[in-house]
Amino acid sequence: MNVIITKGYDEMSSTAFEVMKEVVTRNPSAVLGLATGTTPLGLYERMARDHRENGTSYREIRTVNLDEYEGLDITSDQSYVRFMHEKLFRYIDIDPKNTNIENGKARDAARECARYNALLEDMRQDIQVLGIGSNGHIAFNEPGTPFETETHVVDLAESTIRDNSRLFARPEDVPRRAYTMGPKNIMNAKKILILASGANKAKAVLGLVEGEVTEQLPASILQRHPDCTLVCDEAAASLL
Ligand code: GLP
Repeated sequence: MNVIITKGYDEMSSTAFEVMKEVVTRNPSAVLGLATGTTPLGLYERMARDHRENGTSYREIRTVNLDEYEGLDITSDQSYVRFMHEKLFRYIDIDPKNTNIENGKARDAARECARYNALLEDMRQDIQVLGIGSNGHIAFNEPGTPFETETHVVDLAESTIRDNSRLFARPEDVPRRAYTMGPKNIMNAKKILILASGANKAKAVLGLVEGEVTEQLPASILQRHPDCTLVCDEAAASLL
């Protein structure tokens, strides 16, 4: 794993942007695997600014997102489909038809997972952006998820519900379940870019980089990926 430690959040975001820009410039029809959460916001701001100021085009780019809360869709402020629109897609020239995410309101969950797996088979990510949960989860793959798992519906860990409740009006509004790509879909990406910022991620980052590869810390599987870059700030790297 290539580990880049930056001073703070801004430098983390600029470094991540350089990696992303290289992928998009080299292949203007690349498949970008995207993540939600607060960590990639600085990266998305830089992508939007670069599009505005330098004309970098996303017209032929396709995207696949990691995860979505069960029961939420574009009409909900907290849905991830809405997040991607508000934080990135509305600022760049991407064709909405080329953006993909699980449908949180699908009537048949098993069918929705099969649909997403088939789509991912056809659209191998040229780069997959990831954040990391304080418990070491990637996407919504909680500790204990078998590494061979593909897209599935998960019961969220209590710690994840707590961490994510800051984005909801009331903690009881946080959905208890979510759709997520599995570790197997994530590992299929040609390149992984994982970002971490802040002291609350330090323990998870330690496990990611130096810990045993174990399903108890889902991010640790990335040690087996041939092209994985971690960009993290000093606070997140403080236990390395
Ligand atoms: C959520 C998302 C993850 C994200 C994690 C960390 O649970 N499903 O994809 O990486 O939270 O979020 P944040 O970047 O806000 O710390």
